[in-house]
Amino acid sequence: MTENVLISPSILSADFACLGAEVAAIDQAGADMIHIDVMDGHYVPNLTIGPAVVKALKPHSKKPFDVHLMISPADPLIEAFANAGSDLITVHPDAGPHLHRTLQSLRNLGCKAGIALNPATHADVIDYVIDDIDLILVMSVNPGFGGQSFITSQLRKIETLRRKIDNSGNDIILEVDGGVNPITARDCILAGASALVAGSAVFKGAGTYQQNISALRGIPASQVA
Ligand code: DX5
Ligand code: ZN
Repeated sequence: MTENVLISPSILSADFACLGAEVAAIDQAGADMIHIDVMDGHYVPNLTIGPAVVKALKPHSKKPFDVHLMISPADPLIEAFANAGSDLITVHPDAGPHLHRTLQSLRNLGCKAGIALNPATHADVIDYVIDDIDLILVMSVNPGFGGQSFITSQLRKIETLRRKIDNSGNDIILEVDGGVNPITARDCILAGASALVAGSAVFKGAGTYQQNISALRGIPASQVA
């Protein structure tokens, strides 16, 4: 059922001059989570927001804050992001140096722990931490920018990860991030994704966020109130 997929709009594509209002707008439009892309200009060639902005946005939505850290190293900053109101924090395993320790720290801080796999990263990277994670984020573009095209080879990785999650019996969200639009969303869901991040597909056209989110669930505009 595509309707059940969790939608986590990426505010990277929002109007940065009025981020609080944008977060409230996607909340009202039916977002299940709020995806916040944190970039450091080092792990990825772009620079975005820090914990102070996450804290400032928190009062604008009660939906879980799904914070994607594209920073290296992540460890020195995860406590600040946890204290700022992040409900779920995702790190990249190659942002190092000790993934297992980072995942433990996230849970000790009261956050759900996520692990993000870049397009060339093998699905097996999760094997020895599958009991330590609440979310797997499949990057279907190279991290750093919104508006890129979906890399179709990642569908096979989603299928592989779906099998691994089901075999584990653990309750793990399988999220896809990058180039997600109504067409690629359907492919991701069929491959086994349970959550979708979308930036440009949600934030295109003011006043149409509800239709845009519904379209990712496979619901046509004519059926959206
Ligand atoms: C890329 C980010 C994504 C990005 C998605 O590094 O992690 O969350 O904002 O943007 P779209 O949906 O436009 O590909
Ligand atoms: Zn992201």
